[in-house]
Amino acid sequence: MPPLKVLIIGGGVAGPSLAHWLSRIGANITLIERSPEMRASGQQVDLRAQGVPMMKKMGIEAAVRAATVHEPGTQLIGLNGRTKAFFPASQNGTGKQSFTSEYEIMRGDLVSILYGLTKKHQNVQHLFNTTIDSFTQDEESDPNGKVHVKFRDGRKEDFDLVVGADGTGSKTRRMMLGPDAPDPRHSLGGYIGYFSIPSKPADSDRGTFCHLPSPRVARIIGTRKDRPDLTRIYMLMRGKDAALDAALKSGNLAELKKALSDLYQDGGWECDRFMEGLRDAPEADDLYCTPFEEVRLPEGSWSKGRVVLIGDSAHSGTADGFGSTWGLIGSYILAGEIATLYEKDRSSPTAAVIQGAKNYEKKFRPIATAKHGSGSEWFESVMFPRSSFGIWSLHTFARVAAYFRLDRGAGLDGKTSKWQLPDYPELEREQN
Ligand SMILES: Cc1cc2nc3c(=O)[nH]c(=O)nc-3n(C[C@H](O)[C@H](O)[C@H](O)COP(=O)(O)OP(=O)(O)OC[C@H]3O[C@@H](n4cnc5c(N)ncnc54)[C@H](O)[C@@H]3O)c2cc1C
Ligand SMILES: *[C@@H]1O[C@H](CO)[C@@H](O)[C@H](O)[C@H]1NC(C)=O
Ligand SMILES: *[C@@H]1O[C@H](CO)[C@@H](O)[C@H](O)[C@H]1NC(C)=O
Ligand SMILES: *[C@@H]1O[C@H](CO)[C@@H](O)[C@H](O)[C@H]1NC(C)=O
Repeated sequence: MPPLKVLIIGGGVAGPSLAHWLSRIGANITLIERSPEMRASGQQVDLRAQGVPMMKKMGIEAAVRAATVHEPGTQLIGLNGRTKAFFPASQNGTGKQSFTSEYEIMRGDLVSILYGLTKKHQNVQHLFNTTIDSFTQDEESDPNGKVHVKFRDGRKEDFDLVVGADGTGSKTRRMMLGPDAPDPRHSLGGYIGYFSIPSKPADSDRGTFCHLPSPRVARIIGTRKDRPDLTRIYMLMRGKDAALDAALKSGNLAELKKALSDLYQDGGWECDRFMEGLRDAPEADDLYCTPFEEVRLPEGSWSKGRVVLIGDSAHSGTADGFGSTWGLIGSYILAGEIATLYEKDRSSPTAAVIQGAKNYEKKFRPIATAKHGSGSEWFESVMFPRSSFGIWSLHTFARVAAYFRLDRGAGLDGKTSKWQLPDYPELEREQN
């Protein structure tokens, strides 16, 4: 039998991780990324809860540990810069989590580590500056059925399995669901943005967040510092801003900088210095901004035949702190479920792929979506008070919370935190 032929669309976190696992069953894998090179940008991401045993299974713990950002914890400050509450970092990845997890790593470092894993495998082919325009697939009942893919450059190729790992705005998802399906992205009514500026010695190495009184869009400004020369600025917003929406839609960096700097200029604390950096410092060209949104797909729609979604494209919950963790685990479960069926009967890749994809959703959906629906109310009531009184209450509450460690409630519910990673002996064997 020829090897299972797989196309993975998206070289972020979930895509390379899936390539790594599927190479264990000798699959022939093409991993495509739209950007001209590895997209190693982004700020801090966390590996939490089951993400810790997951990275151990992948053999990347030492590499992740070496790249870990040493943030001692998170603090809330007042407009005068004085600390109101401090939340120390979680000591390990289990139990309830605080805002800073033990395995806090820059997204770019994680992506590089994952690429390093797949580079070792001869059966994984990386293609950059590559995307697809369309696909069709044969009937599910056809035991030799394929997905027929048309690439952007006009090339056509057939695959046994096509996986969308192309993030929250997934185009693969749109093609899979069809033009009439509703957009599954559910707005949580806010935005998050990050950029870098040159640091000043007084910038704290703690994650530092300041609530700004605001009549219109509720705003938080924050700083984090993973290296001495740069300070990373975080902007969290709740509400709707027409100019920001227009800038996001345009995809134009200068417009986006202007919309954000209009929103934060004169906000108080060090906003003016940060906004000057945003407008003028070349370091700030790493600006990344996205609406808070959750991908809520109806049950049974994470796959259609031989086309499957993983990572943010299947179940994103923006900025809930579990995106990378679930991205690693979902790809492992999809690979494991397919491998289990495929190793039993290699004569029909179709059956293994279609049923494996269904089993993957069945097992993993309750975990990956456990925190869905909790985002908006939480942000509304606790994170984003608008008035000075609301901000004062938050600081008072936060001081009490820090004392009683209530902040760790940002973690998982009991059932989800007790869930254990499945074992797949078929994936334990190292190949080429
Ligand atoms: C640039 C960037 C910065 C981010 N910064 C942060 C951050 O600071 N903090 C945080 O917690 N999370 C961040 N995230 C989200 C985080 O990476 C994910 O929540 C999580 O890691 C799950 O990853 P994923 O692989 O499903 O999706 P992603 O990491 O979003 O990766 C998707 C990949 O697919 C590629 N792609 C998209 N469309 C296509 C297409 N049509 N064809 C081919 N390739 C395509 C994208 O370029 C990207 O490399 C960021 C994501 C991106 C893309
Ligand atoms: C894997 O597929 C590529 C084309 O996508 C092909 O060129 C290559 O020969 C295949 N490798 C194996 C081992 O079948
Ligand atoms: C992690 O921390 C929790 C609570 O602080 C503790 O009960 C548990 O034993 C720790 N686990 C490890 C592996 O250190
Ligand atoms: C990306 O590919 C297109 C053709 O598909 C080509 O025109 C363009 O020059 C390529 N860009 C880079 C940076 O390689």
